[in-house]
Amino acid sequence: MAVERIVDTSVHDEDSGDIDEQEIEITLRPQSFADYVGQDRLKRNLKLAIDAAKKREEPIDHVLLYGPPGLGKTTMATVIANEMGKNIRITAGPAIERAGDLASILTNLGDGDVLFIDEIHRLSRTVEEVLYSAMEDFKLDIVIGKGPAARSVRLDLPKFTVIGATTRTGALAAPLRDRFGLIHRLEFYSPTEISQVITRAATILDSEIHSDSADLLSTRARLTPRIANRLLKRVRDYADVNGDGIIDSLTTKKALALLEIDELGLDPADRHLLTSIIDNYGNNPVGLNTIAALTGDEATTIEDFYEPYLLQLGFIERTPRGRRVTPKAYRHLGKTIPENEQ
Ligand SMILES: Nc1ncnc2c1ncn2[C@@H]1O[C@H](COP(=O)(O)OP(=O)(O)O)[C@@H](O)[C@H]1O
Ligand SMILES: [Mg+2]
Repeated sequence: MAVERIVDTSVHDEDSGDIDEQEIEITLRPQSFADYVGQDRLKRNLKLAIDAAKKREEPIDHVLLYGPPGLGKTTMATVIANEMGKNIRITAGPAIERAGDLASILTNLGDGDVLFIDEIHRLSRTVEEVLYSAMEDFKLDIVIGKGPAARSVRLDLPKFTVIGATTRTGALAAPLRDRFGLIHRLEFYSPTEISQVITRAATILDSEIHSDSADLLSTRARLTPRIANRLLKRVRDYADVNGDGIIDSLTTKKALALLEIDELGLDPADRHLLTSIIDNYGNNPVGLNTIAALTGDEATTIEDFYEPYLLQLGFIERTPRGRRVTPKAYRHLGKTIPENEQ
């Protein structure tokens, strides 16, 4: 993407400000269930699993977390490891290139440790196969040597827990998915919860924010904690530069106007996406690749970053023949609703 979007749900490598965004994320990352706002159903289920596992002195079942970026999957993996009192090893699907890479990770785990695999749908097929047999019986089959002298040995692994994260469960091979005892979808947060996320982050960042400003921001953050934190940071910059650093409602409104984020949290790129579909196709269904061509993004970017929130708002809907822009989106954009919809 040419322009860095503030409402982008991915982690920006280089932030325009002083501190790298990744560092901020780490500072703001909740460490326990008590700090982790919302996702109550998920927390209830995990607490139960953790309590039971502790009683049996065993690791918890493998956990698969799925849902749009920025909703707290990586954070939850860290919380689970903390609540279990175990170490977490963090890696990602594309980072494990060969079966040997996985073998070295697995043999270095301690008893009960958590192995977090982000973007688990991007593991290669061969690595995937090694992984699911290791998840099943905590054994690792490796081949030593080459040619006729090659022999296969079976290594015992410590009992460990895999926590996988993915934006798309559909992309996960069934045998791998079946190895997860707990499969949970992370939901969008309510504005009230996002307001709590913002207030908590402001306290950690030692920034004063009025509660009406936190409430205002909570409706602009796409119901996503990562965006809430990023918005807070931008508004805080604005308050520091243009005032006394206190985030009140006037400062917040001015900062949001500058960022061109509307009442629903849509930025110019979202509005451009919707407008281009409407202008070129009206409310007829269009394929994902066509949308990608209209905006110049990758199809996966549309699917992972733009679409989940637009679907949540009911601005687009999926039909068997493609995506359609709904009358609700027409109204928000001030466009005339087509005859066949009225
Ligand atoms: N439930 C939550 N409560 C408070 N902050 C959260 C919560 N979930 C996520 N965050 C914040 O949002 C950021 C992004 O969360 P992360 O776990 O990296 O999302 P994901 O892995 O789903 O993309 C974290 O750094 C954290 O500060
Ligand atoms: Mg993550």
